[in-house]
Amino acid sequence: MYYEPIQVKLKNDVDAEITDIKPEYQNDMISNYFTVFDEIERGKSKYGSDVGILLSYTKESYEEEVAWFNKKLQKIENDEQIARVAVVAGHPVGLVDIRKGGLGRRHMGEIGIFIRKDYRGMGVGKALMEDVLKLAKGWVKIAVLSVFEENKAAYNLYKKLGFEEYGRLEDAIELRNKKITEIWMYKRL
Ligand SMILES: CC(C)(COP(=O)(O)OP(=O)(O)OC[C@H]1O[C@@H](n2cnc3c(N)ncnc32)[C@H](O)[C@@H]1OP(=O)(O)O)[C@@H](O)C(=O)NCCC(=O)NCCS
Repeated sequence: MYYEPIQVKLKNDVDAEITDIKPEYQNDMISNYFTVFDEIERGKSKYGSDVGILLSYTKESYEEEVAWFNKKLQKIENDEQIARVAVVAGHPVGLVDIRKGGLGRRHMGEIGIFIRKDYRGMGVGKALMEDVLKLAKGWVKIAVLSVFEENKAAYNLYKKLGFEEYGRLEDAIELRNKKITEIWMYKRL
């Protein structure tokens, strides 16, 4: 499915385009993902749970990431997910996706979002979330997502967009010697 690109102005007056994933974004998107590992290594906490996504213990190979990218394009083509990127000066700096549930949950979509560290706090996350929620209206009836308790930026963003908590599980995640409380949130579209 093809969705129209939209233009947005970020908080620092920089122009960004919110658009579908294109094959030529492959290397930038892989490099964006790899930056998270550097973030965790440089971060204060060993786990870096403020980054808010579950990462494997070792970096995947470039080839594995190419396979991930191609699979993603296929899932979009098959209408299994909607994925949009924020492009600044020709380079994607953030990704949001919403993935349709399985049997009995085809009316639910699970959202994931990631913005490159150097582009956070500028309104990219909000613009991507608003865009994907708009596109997903009619495609699924309920949007769901999960957020780590200490990921205040993400939690605040979701609350601001009307997501409500429907579950909170202490120690839901144990990774890198750290226990994390996970919060589940939903929004009816
Ligand atoms: C969470 C994330 C998607 C937010 O995107 P962003 O582009 O940085 O956020 P925005 O600039 O659009 O801010 C939108 C709102 O989020 C909240 N927010 C953003 N950064 C924040 C921070 N550092 N502290 C508290 N709230 C914050 C605010 O409510 C903000 O609204 P405001 O600007 O009116 O105050 C981004 O920080 C990110 O990709 N983090 C790493 C990956 C991740 O955690 N993904 C989410 C997994 S659940």
